[in-house]
Amino acid sequence: MELRVAGGRRLAGHVGVGGSRNSALAVMAASLLAEGETTIDNVPDNGDVRLMGQILQGIGVGVRRSDPHVLQVRVRRLIHHEPDYELSKMIRASSLLIGPILARTGKARVAMPDGEQIGPRPMDLHLKGMRALGADVAVEHGYVAASVSRLSGARIYLDFPSVGATESIMMGACLAKGTSIIENAAKEPEVVDLANFLTLMGAAIRGAGTDAIRVDGVDSLSPVTYSVIPDRIEAATILSAGLITRGRVRVMDVIPTHLDSVLSKLAEMGAELDIGPDYVELAMAGPIRACDTKTGPYPGFPTDMQPQLSAVMSLAAGVSVLTESVFDNRFLQVDELRRMGALMRLESRSLIIEGIERLTGAMVRAVDPATGAALILAGLAAEGETSLSGVEQIDRCYEGICGKLNRLGACVSRFGATHASAVGEEK
Ligand code: UD1
Repeated sequence: MELRVAGGRRLAGHVGVGGSRNSALAVMAASLLAEGETTIDNVPDNGDVRLMGQILQGIGVGVRRSDPHVLQVRVRRLIHHEPDYELSKMIRASSLLIGPILARTGKARVAMPDGEQIGPRPMDLHLKGMRALGADVAVEHGYVAASVSRLSGARIYLDFPSVGATESIMMGACLAKGTSIIENAAKEPEVVDLANFLTLMGAAIRGAGTDAIRVDGVDSLSPVTYSVIPDRIEAATILSAGLITRGRVRVMDVIPTHLDSVLSKLAEMGAELDIGPDYVELAMAGPIRACDTKTGPYPGFPTDMQPQLSAVMSLAAGVSVLTESVFDNRFLQVDELRRMGALMRLESRSLIIEGIERLTGAMVRAVDPATGAALILAGLAAEGETSLSGVEQIDRCYEGICGKLNRLGACVSRFGATHASAVGEEK
C-alpha cells in the first residue's frame, strides 16, 4: 500500500479536526475502572484505537462502535488480568492498562511494549509508580507482572514528566486507599482530559495540568458518557500543510490554546494567524523564515510535531536548528527528506537544517506516524510526485488525513490492494 502525493498545489479551505488519539487511548484504558457501559465520543477511527479496542475485547470487555466516532465500552465485574501478549507488545499505550487492571482485579500481567525506532522507551517510571502504590512488580518472561490486595496512596516524584506514567499512576491512584501526590507530573492536555474523564466517573483529582496532581482514592467509579478533546497534532499538521504550500487553511473544532507552542513557531516562520474560539486560520504568503526550536514536555513544542516541522524548515530561507529533548532517536525522517533534496545534518540531538528553494518528489518510506506526516508535507510542496510506503504507520495515528488534505485542494491518493475501500473513504 502506498500514497502518491502530487506536489505544487496551494491548499485552501477549511477542515474539521478529529478527536485526540492519545486522549482516546487513555480514556479507553480508564473505562476499565468502572463496571458498566461507558460511552466515549469523538474517538478517532485509526489503527492504534482499533488495536486498543481489540486488546480490551481480549480481556472480556465489550467494545462497539455505535457511530464512526462513538465507542461503547462495556465492562463486566470480572475482567481478565492478562491482555493478549502479541497485541499489547505492538502498542506502547497498552502500558496504560497496568494501573486500571491492577486497581480492578488486584493483579495485572501486561506485555512489555516493543522498543520503538524513536529510541528506547523504558517503563521504569510506570513500574516505580505501581510499586509506590504498594504493588509487587516484576518484569518476567516479557511481561510486567504486578499484584496487590489494594493499592494505597503515595507520594511519587517522576524523574521525567512522562505522559504515560502520569496517566498510569493517576488511574491506579483513583481506586487506591488514601491520598496520592504525583510530583513533576506531565501537564499535557491529554493528561487533563483523562483527569476530567476520571472526575466525571467520581474520582477526586486536583491539580491536573500543573506539575503536582493530587488524587484522593475512592471506593468505586461509575461509567459515564464523555467526549475527548480534539487532536492537537492533527490540527498542527494540517496548519503546517497550509504553511508549506503557501496556502490559506482553517482548522475547525480545535482548542487553540493547546496549540500555543506550535502557533508561535508557525508565526515566527512567517504565517499570519487568525485565532478564534474553536478555530485557527493560517495564511502564508511570503518566504518561509528559518527559526530555532526545541521540543519539550507540554507546554513545550510537541515531539510528535518535530518531524513535520523539519519538513517545513527544509524550505525556509536560512538555517534552522531543531533540537529533540524528549526522545533519544527521533530523526527518522532525515534520510527520507534528504532523498527529496533536503539539506540537513544531525549534531547530537540537534538537526541543522539549511533551507533550500525546492524539494523534489521521490520514493520515500514512513517508519513512524510523524515521519509519515512529515513526508506528506514535503510531498505537498515538492516538485513532481512523491510516493510514500509504510502508509499503515500514518494510519495508526491519523484518521483520513489524505481525505482532509484533498478537501483543501491537495492531490493525495492511495494505491494498493488492501485499500480499495480506503480510497473511497478518503475522497
Ligand atoms: C505519549 C504519547 C506520544 C508522545 C509522548 C511524548 C500516548 C499514547 N503517546 O507517549 O504520542 O510522543 O507522550 O509527548 O499518549 N520515559 C522513561 N521511563 C518511563 C516512561 C517514559 O524514561 O517509564 C521516557 C521516554 O523514554 C521518553 C520520555 O520519557 O524519552 C517521554 O515519554 P512519555 O511521556 O512517557 O511518552 P508516552 O507516554 O509513551
